[in-house]
Amino acid sequence: MTDPRPSRTPVAILISGDGSNMVALVEASRAADCPYEVVLVLSNTPDAGGLAKAAALGVPTLAIDHRPHGKDREAHERLVDAALRDARADYVALAGYMRILTPWLVEGWAGRMLNIHPSLLPKYPGLHTHQRALDAGDAEAGCTVHLVTTGVDEGPILGQARVPVLPGDTAETLAARVKAQEHQLYPAALADLVRRGA
Ligand code: GRF
Repeated sequence: MTDPRPSRTPVAILISGDGSNMVALVEASRAADCPYEVVLVLSNTPDAGGLAKAAALGVPTLAIDHRPHGKDREAHERLVDAALRDARADYVALAGYMRILTPWLVEGWAGRMLNIHPSLLPKYPGLHTHQRALDAGDAEAGCTVHLVTTGVDEGPILGQARVPVLPGDTAETLAARVKAQEHQLYPAALADLVRRGA
């Protein structure tokens, strides 16, 4: 069946795991006024749960295992980059993609690669963000969508969502509250970026 909507901007999503943000991005793309469509979901781990979810949503999937390339990150990235370009992606959304990227890949997609991070950046780049927020006694936590630059979890902020830290919170309960916001924030921030770039 022909899509009656005007042509939309092709986006690829990189995942390593469960892919709940990927699912949120794909589901949001089905709205009539969404300016992007997801043309590829690519994982560096062949057994990522998100791959089956993407396939069930009718999105093309690909796994490019990083392990055969050992420490040669760029060799793996060259295959990833070729797949992104084959898919004709204009933007790349990182959604739980657990690889540190080389400047080669980042610079090749400058301004067109974005990431979601589960903290209110610049607070808590890196891992264990929720535990760190609890340990610091923060009254609020949240998530950030940002453009990807060569520094890890740096780059211009495109949007943030905040949640309260509640008495008795654990890293798990806080993570779940933040993640519900991630699923709202990421599609909205991606759509805004695509509209501005159109
Ligand atoms: C999310 O918390 C995201 O902020 C971080 O990695 C996690 C991915 O979760 N970058 P999911 O695979 O989208 O469920």
